[in-house]
Amino acid sequence: MKRVLTIAGSDSGGGAGIQADLKTFGALGVFGMSAITAVTAQNTVAVTRIQEIAPDIVAAQIDAVCEDIGVDAAKTGMLANAPIIEAVAAAVRRHRIPNLVVDPVMVSKSGAALLQKDAVRLLLTVLVPLAHIITPNLPEASVLAGIAVTNEEEAREAARRIHALGARHVVVKGGHAASPNVVDLFYDGRDFQELKAERVVTTATHGTGCTFAAATAAYLAHGLPPLEAVIRAKEFLTAALKAAPILGRGTGPLDHFHAFRRPAG
Ligand SMILES: Nc1ncnc2c1ncn2[C@@H]1O[C@H](COP(=O)(O)OP(=O)(O)OP(=O)(O)O)[C@@H](O)[C@H]1O
Ligand SMILES: [Mg+2]
Repeated sequence: MKRVLTIAGSDSGGGAGIQADLKTFGALGVFGMSAITAVTAQNTVAVTRIQEIAPDIVAAQIDAVCEDIGVDAAKTGMLANAPIIEAVAAAVRRHRIPNLVVDPVMVSKSGAALLQKDAVRLLLTVLVPLAHIITPNLPEASVLAGIAVTNEEEAREAARRIHALGARHVVVKGGHAASPNVVDLFYDGRDFQELKAERVVTTATHGTGCTFAAATAAYLAHGLPPLEAVIRAKEFLTAALKAAPILGRGTGPLDHFHAFRRPAG
């Protein structure tokens, strides 16, 4: 069985973070493991409290998993602060973790800051160069590339700049654009591919980014090449969005197990 590790924050609401990642891993037939970077008290409406985990405890979780079970692919999500980024990057290098998907999480859908401002520089210098695939949304692409990203040409330029920082494949996600289709832009340092999907009209988009990055890591672990992994991850995500249950009063979760639903009885 392929083994996939998520290094991310816990979402008590179950829709994003570690919980979304482990559900995704389970649905895609890989063995899921976790290193928790922060505990968030969160629901579909808001993040009410955050407890960041000590960097040595984050590193110890990664060490424990790598030294015994092994890791075929990993993803990072919320990393909270600079010392955690340093600890994670050192652990990724120490264990030569392959197929690292970096989701450069900065702000939650409900607007809470999930990465301290002073940590962005470190993200750029130590973690981006370790990324096999990096998956910024439009605001994150703008911060990482240091340019405005408001149209397709700017998204391409941002992808070029993020690739130049050392990420081997870049996906600039288009969820935040206003277009009728959602278009994610894939760049491998040579060619661009536009990954188009219908925009699902729903308020249940909690954890789309986490789910997409986790599914990408799962498909990399299964042995798919990067572009294929991203295409399949997007298919999984779109289906999970379409099947989303109506839960909570805010931005609700997806249905990660849409493919397994059976009517009761
Ligand atoms: N309404 C939608 N319909 C279909 N696909 C969507 C929709 N919203 C987002 N996506 C897809 O979900 C993935 C995540 O994109 P998005 O830009 O929302 O990331 P994000 O902002 O990092 O998400 P999160 O807030 O969960 O961190 C992308 O593949 C994007 O195309
Ligand atoms: Mg995100």
